[in-house]
Amino acid sequence: LAKTGDHLGIWLIGAAGNVATTVAVGLAALRRGLTAPIGLLTESPICRNLGLSPLSRITLGGHEIARRTVLATAEELHTQSGIFGESLLRQVRPDLKKLQSAIRPGIKAGHGVRPAIEQCRRDLRQFAKSRGLSRMVMINLASTEPLLRVGKQRKWSDLERALAKSGEAAIPPSTAYAIAAIQENIPYVNFTPSLGANHPAVLDLAAQHNVPVMGADAKTGETLLKSVLAPMFDARRLDVMSWTGTNILGNRDGQTLREPRARAAKLRGKDQALSMLLSENAQTHTAIDFVGSMHDWKTAWDHIHFRGFLDTKMTLQFIWQGCDSALAAPLVIDLARLADLHAQLGRGGVMSHLACFFKSPMDADSHRFFEQMQILQKYLDSARAERRR
Ligand SMILES: NC(=O)c1ccc[n+]([C@@H]2O[C@H](COP(=O)([O-])OP(=O)(O)OC[C@H]3O[C@@H](n4cnc5c(N)ncnc54)[C@H](O)[C@@H]3O)[C@@H](O)[C@H]2O)c1
Repeated sequence: LAKTGDHLGIWLIGAAGNVATTVAVGLAALRRGLTAPIGLLTESPICRNLGLSPLSRITLGGHEIARRTVLATAEELHTQSGIFGESLLRQVRPDLKKLQSAIRPGIKAGHGVRPAIEQCRRDLRQFAKSRGLSRMVMINLASTEPLLRVGKQRKWSDLERALAKSGEAAIPPSTAYAIAAIQENIPYVNFTPSLGANHPAVLDLAAQHNVPVMGADAKTGETLLKSVLAPMFDARRLDVMSWTGTNILGNRDGQTLREPRARAAKLRGKDQALSMLLSENAQTHTAIDFVGSMHDWKTAWDHIHFRGFLDTKMTLQFIWQGCDSALAAPLVIDLARLADLHAQLGRGGVMSHLACFFKSPMDADSHRFFEQMQILQKYLDSARAERRR
């Protein structure tokens, strides 16, 4: 891929899922002036003069394993969840068809990993060539994978050998996609709790290719609030004794999370973030339940029991009612543009400056949202200065 030019391709894994479809609808609506860029950090003043790829120059493609089309998912989101209106949906239909034509069959768990990686690389090259792209970014938006015990390889050469020997080294599809992207010098961002690039041997490969990677599990709702509120209790020296959260949601993601090992992967990130934000004595518990009638809407109810002056016990409760895909989609666009910026600056490896976007940020010291935002702001200032030179 050419390093210059502004035509950016975003390759979505799980391209006909709710979040991917909302990204496609949102981008098309923004391009057509049908909506304002609410929720997009990369369209706000802190991202000015960075030379980010314009929204009008972003093209989508991706991998999918389900037969469902992007149009069908969009209809479903409209009728069941009421995210976007009928008129908007009608106007963006051509863009959704365009994405559909750029979707290729994805990598399924348990199939030969090596040939799947090779096929994935061919798909990426073909997409870049057919659309005349300058650069690409891969974002994993596929269903959460079950927690998997992976091989112990630390070096890419060892994992490569293991993959060649058995053809079935213990890596999940998310990691196979990450390998394919890195080998094509395409930045990889893992929006999900799955393993993705967070494997020592894959990070070694990313370092060799100087390709940016980041994850895991985007912070869009309850955990976002936790990472804002927990530092407040700390700053006021209020002692949080327990923090209990219950989440109910009704979309396919919620359905996937009914599987105990997938739920364990999700809860690990959610609960870990909270444990790291509070003192070790605080009792924490997070639950997720599937409630089909809610479709793409999620309710988080949190109960925070804390102690103040003279040992006085008090309670904060909050109820967050969010639309899952509408919260997630702008972050996908932001992450793609910021990963692309990092690559354009010639940098690779873990993009820890993007920690504010994730529940389990790789290589990040802090889970505190405003500290994370300061780190990002500093990075953006230095990137702007570098771009000016
Ligand atoms: N919505 C949010 O706020 C949010 C926040 C953080 C993380 N996430 C994560 O984003 C992901 C997507 O969420 P969603 O609501 O769009 O889910 P979804 O179920 O609607 O979409 C996932 C899509 O991935 C496809 N898929 C599954 N395995 C695949 C594979 N190996 N290769 C290619 N495609 C595959 C599925 O067929 C499905 O179409 C989930 O993992 C979710 O946990 C979402």
